Amino acid sequence: MKIEITEQKRPVLSEEAKAEIQRVIKQYPEGRQKSAILRVMHIVEEEAGGWLSPDTMDMIAEILSIEPIEVYEVATFYTMFNLQPVGKYVFEVCRTGPCMLVGSDNIITYLENKLNIKVGETTTDGMFTLKTAECLGACGYGPMLQCGEEYHEYLTPEKVDELIEACRRGEIKGNKVV
Ligand code: FES
Repeated sequence: MKIEITEQKRPVLSEEAKAEIQRVIKQYPEGRQKSAILRVMHIVEEEAGGWLSPDTMDMIAEILSIEPIEVYEVATFYTMFNLQPVGKYVFEVCRTGPCMLVGSDNIITYLENKLNIKVGETTTDGMFTLKTAECLGACGYGPMLQCGEEYHEYLTPEKVDELIEACRRGEIKGNKVV
């Protein structure tokens, strides 16, 4: 995987985020704080505007008293983490077999044309990022995509249009909290 480096200052964590990180770390035995890595990465990513820069990942390594490479490994393995700035709404379209069989590739192409971006890109207004993902566990409801914490299933071009409009009206919770 090619990673383009984008600069980003380390986020200043909110008191709530700091407390949640400590609560999660304390769930594991002394010296096993690395086990909290996924949850901590999600918390910090949210605080950082929806993506993780190398500097932010270094910060996570410091929080967990582990090597930075251990954070990079996780961040580059899972598609759920963003390594570049993203839009307010990140559409992750499942492209695994069962969804592909019912037309996920058509939905991806439709979104690319509708948003005028390719997979991996963000619209110029900073609203939408288009990604693909491997199986999201909703194989019986494809084609589907994840946006934030919500699944949108049995997608058709009409449903995609409705989703985009709902996002523009602010009716859908986005991926970014800052
Ligand atoms: S194959 Fe798409 S959710 Fe499982």
